[in-house]
Amino acid sequence: MILVTSNRHKFQEIAAMFHGTGIPLEWRQMKYEEIQEDTTEMISYRSCVEVRKYLHDDFFLEDTGLYVPSLYGFPGPYSSYVNATIGYAGLQRLVEGKDRRAYFKTVISLSMGGSITQFGGILRGEISSKARGTTGFGFDPVFIPEGENLTLAEMEIDLKNRFSHRGRAVSVLIEYLISLEPKR
Ligand code: IMP
Repeated sequence: MILVTSNRHKFQEIAAMFHGTGIPLEWRQMKYEEIQEDTTEMISYRSCVEVRKYLHDDFFLEDTGLYVPSLYGFPGPYSSYVNATIGYAGLQRLVEGKDRRAYFKTVISLSMGGSITQFGGILRGEISSKARGTTGFGFDPVFIPEGENLTLAEMEIDLKNRFSHRGRAVSVLIEYLISLEPKR
C-alpha cells in the first residue's frame, strides 16, 4: 500500500502502525497542492482526487486539522497555515482566558480501484499554557490529550499512536485492508 505524504513524521507514525500487519507500506514522498476547503474531509478528498491524476496505483493520504471550539473551530481547515504563520505560540495566545479544549481530526482518503473511501479519527484534549516536549511535530508540544498529563511531544510514537487521531484513523484503515484480503 502506498502512503502519499511529504511529512516524515506522519510517515513514521503510520509506518509504526503498519509494522507487523503483514501489509507492506511504501512511502511516496510527493508534494501535492492542498486545495483550501471548509472541512478536513473535503481537503483530504480533493487532495486525493488531485493525486489520482498522477498516481494510478492504490494509495492513501491524510489531512489533519486542529479544532478549538471556543475559537469557533479555528484553525480547523487552516491548521497548516496557522502553524506556518503564528505557530503554536500564536495559538496559545489566542486561547488565553478562553476554554482551552480542542481536538485533532484526521481524515484518510484511500484511492482503491475506482473509488475513494474515507476513514476518520479524533483526539480530544486541550491546549497547554506551556509548550513541553521534543518529539513529534506541529502542535504536539502544546496539546495534552484528555486524561493524560503529558503533551503529545513528550510521548514516544507508539504511545501517541495508541489513542491519537491519526492512530485511530489508521487502525480502521488497516482493519478494512485486512478484511479485503482473501481468507486463508
Ligand atoms: P496537514 O494535515 O499536514 O495539513 O496538517 C495541518 C497542520 O496540523 C500542520 O501544521 C501540521 O503540522 C499540524 N499537525 C498535523 N498532524 C498533527 C499531529 O499529529 N500533531 C500535531 N500537529 C499536527
